[in-house]
Amino acid sequence: MADGKVSVLDIIKAKKKGRKLVMVTAYDYPFGLMADEAGVDIALVGDSLGMVVLGLDNTVPVTLEMMIHHIQAVVRGCKRAMVIGDMPFMSYNTGTRDAIINAGRLMKEGGCDAIKLEGGVDFAPVVRAIVKAGIPVQGHVGLTPQTASALGGFKMQGKDAGAARKIIDDARALEAAGVFSIVAEAVPAPLGRLLAEAVTVPVIGIGAGVDVDGQVLVTHDMVGLFDRFVPKFVKQYTKVRPTIIDAIKAYGKDVRASAFPAAEHSFDMSDAALVALKASLKEK
Ligand code: KIV
Repeated sequence: MADGKVSVLDIIKAKKKGRKLVMVTAYDYPFGLMADEAGVDIALVGDSLGMVVLGLDNTVPVTLEMMIHHIQAVVRGCKRAMVIGDMPFMSYNTGTRDAIINAGRLMKEGGCDAIKLEGGVDFAPVVRAIVKAGIPVQGHVGLTPQTASALGGFKMQGKDAGAARKIIDDARALEAAGVFSIVAEAVPAPLGRLLAEAVTVPVIGIGAGVDVDGQVLVTHDMVGLFDRFVPKFVKQYTKVRPTIIDAIKAYGKDVRASAFPAAEHSFDMSDAALVALKASLKEK
């Protein structure tokens, strides 16, 4: 990967060179900074923020304004990583004109480098129009959380030959429409491999096995910050939630025992100023 900001060309070239792509989600400035410092290729401001940051039950209620707000913060933290902003539900489903305007808002107001949207064959015309408008698009096939209820819930997709073939057709349609990469979520590992072979753009897996061109995980799952639901495909590299709870408990104990703040956390005042102040108080 060249020095400087990761570009669309760098992402496409990575597959040709057999270099695996590393992508994580980020939703705010500190996580943008940390993802960038850790050297990821792509920071995705996913609409998963609805669940792991805003406490919603799913991604459906996430709005364009929420996405812009979070994208702006991540962009401030990422000097090198490409920042991709997710198009929320119903921001691209109502026609190509709406889709171009809303994708444009994520780029102009949010400041991201590219956008991602969910869907395959049915959304290829929308993808083509956004790409034609000059906006790089990442596709998303397999389990598409915005329409999970229509897919029977948060379940693995492409179990039988027919369903698997449809996902490959989706990926091919997205490639023909001009996407620069495709996220494949919750599909059997052998299908992940066939998907990566079926298209020339990188396929970035999340629950798609190891034989794809890169991986993406929701950072809050991976670091154990969000444990309301941990999908099978998540590896928890650490568990920061208990550490944070313990720290808040220790702080509470110190406050209640007047053990915090100590002298080193407090500002001092000169004796002269204090004497003068006390004298002025006596004068009323
Ligand atoms: O919203 C998100 O975080 C995503 C990833 C799961 C790829 O779409």
